[in-house]
Amino acid sequence: MSFYDEETIENVRSANDIVDVIGQYVHLTKRGSSYVGLCPFHNEKTPSFNVSADKQMFHCFGCGVGGNVYTFLMKYDNLSFPEAVQSLAERAGITLPERQMTSEERRLADRRTKLLALNKDAAVYFYRALRNHDGEAALEYFKKRALSDETMKNFGLGYSLPYRDDLYKYLKSKGYDDDLIRSSGLCRFDEGYGMHDLFWNRAMFPIMNLNGKVIAFGGRVMGDAKPKYVNSPESPVFDKSRNMYGLNIAKNAKRPYLILCEGYMDVIALHQAGFDNACASLGTSLTEGHCLLLKRYKKPIYLSYDSDGAGVKAARRAIPMLHDVGLETKVIHMDPYKDPDEFMKGLGPEEYEKRVQAAENGFFFLVRKLSEEYDLSDPGAKTSFMKGVAELLLTLNAGMERSNYLTAIAAKYGVREADLNDLLISVATEQSRHRAAIERQKEKAESRRSESPMTNVNHEDRTGPPPSNPEGGEAEPRRIPEGIRQSERMLLSWFAARPAILSVLSPYIGEDDFEEEVFRQVYEELVQEITETGSAVPAKVVNLFDDLEAQSEVGKIFSAGIEDMADPKDREKALRETLIRVKQERIDSLGRGPGAAEQGTFRTLMEEKKKLDALRKLNLGPV
Ligand code: UTP
Ligand code: MN
Repeated sequence: MSFYDEETIENVRSANDIVDVIGQYVHLTKRGSSYVGLCPFHNEKTPSFNVSADKQMFHCFGCGVGGNVYTFLMKYDNLSFPEAVQSLAERAGITLPERQMTSEERRLADRRTKLLALNKDAAVYFYRALRNHDGEAALEYFKKRALSDETMKNFGLGYSLPYRDDLYKYLKSKGYDDDLIRSSGLCRFDEGYGMHDLFWNRAMFPIMNLNGKVIAFGGRVMGDAKPKYVNSPESPVFDKSRNMYGLNIAKNAKRPYLILCEGYMDVIALHQAGFDNACASLGTSLTEGHCLLLKRYKKPIYLSYDSDGAGVKAARRAIPMLHDVGLETKVIHMDPYKDPDEFMKGLGPEEYEKRVQAAENGFFFLVRKLSEEYDLSDPGAKTSFMKGVAELLLTLNAGMERSNYLTAIAAKYGVREADLNDLLISVATEQSRHRAAIERQKEKAESRRSESPMTNVNHEDRTGPPPSNPEGGEAEPRRIPEGIRQSERMLLSWFAARPAILSVLSPYIGEDDFEEEVFRQVYEELVQEITETGSAVPAKVVNLFDDLEAQSEVGKIFSAGIEDMADPKDREKALRETLIRVKQERIDSLGRGPGAAEQGTFRTLMEEKKKLDALRKLNLGPV
């Protein structure tokens, strides 16, 4: 889907030395063959930002970002991949081939640009309305809610006049056509009214994307009428579940954590009180899209949800979702106040800072809330509660994380660790039996539904179409636990650092051993490059991906510290452990998969088990 062809991308990249480019933005000091400096992507006092001249890659050991020179520019200047290519081509004096957009691409790009311009014009219109005499009541309203002029300005707050189509007329006068105006959602057509505005007589909150461009609005009634807020509908520039209110500012905040709250007013009150690291999801509960967005910043998330029942419920839902993308969570307690806005009015920023310091670990919060549903003085109820705790523990990553919590929770609720562990195992067994039963039912339904040989004879071919569930939709892809990703990543790091082991391992390891799609692609690329040239150029592998997250993933692979282990024995042991973990996961996943009971899969499973045995003994050679 990339804008330019591979060769162009690689030419431009290799014409721009990464040390020179990054050196323009970050003060770098030479250390061996690398350069170090203070990371521009997180707040730090000692340098953990590393730029390698050999690899033409950068990596921050503090916050985990990394990639090649494109990644850096995309992140630093908020550029898209093609924009980064253009900027570096210009820098190196390379003329890029004219790339013709298809007419459909051009139409979409034009439309987005125009919609952004329209939203911006609307924002200016609302902003001005608040500040002329028609807007006096709204200005009063904001002042009554203790917002300063500066805050109103920073958030671009405005007012929509109480007329039926004033904005519509304004937008027409600016030259936008009806079709575009309607697709912005700011005006609607109906038989009775004709074209009319969505927002009437409301206090207006423009919603910005990560680049600070206005993409939508929320409008609040200035009294108690319902609905309290009206929001722009989704449009080609406004995807609710991929944008968050205040994040355009919060993403650059210095504090080492982000605050997640519920609404517009919470974000604004927090920013005004100096917590410019606050953001909120927009008129919807937290989605996976939001979690992935937050994940980019690799900072723990402090929840500052309302302290009422709905807020607690939302927090209990959000914590596991955030954990699943690898983010640590804490819960800020604001009692006796309901939300950050009221808290700031009641106790102020210093007290809030104390509450931040005292925030409760997200997992402990989940367990504590669960405990409130039981009478723990009753032994039977306590056992049921512990079963619930075991279920919660099973959502954590197996290994260190889970066992640390198990120990802590056992102590906290006065049960024996060994007992809790036994319970954990029996709940896990029960769960997997339950899952297997569901799978079997699905399979039955499937084979009854279809006589096609594809679905009921042979699942051996993993490249074939994925099995679909009985509803006809595709099965939810499994979220890959961080522990497994870590092993897969390590294995790739070994291939990158020691290309020679590829041929030793090729009979035992293959593409299917990588569950993570990005890793699979990297593996294929490494195999190809190493087979052709004997080694792999890290920065070139990064070119395969045009999104930042994937680029950082690849960056991590190439910066893992295999060289750090001085003793060859340690290195061999580490490599072998990684191999065993990856292969074991492949075996587990075959056993867990939908075709587990079938012959083809069974055969593959046996073969994989043989490979695992071989890997335990295999002479890995010097590593
Ligand atoms: P709240 O009701 O907590 O609003 O809803 P708030 O932002 O704290 O506003 P104040 O302080 O009462 O004035 C939280 C968020 O839920 C969405 C909005 O995004 C709001 O900020 N919401 C709420 C709606 O979209 N529509 C509604 O009718 C209510
Ligand atoms: Mn609220």
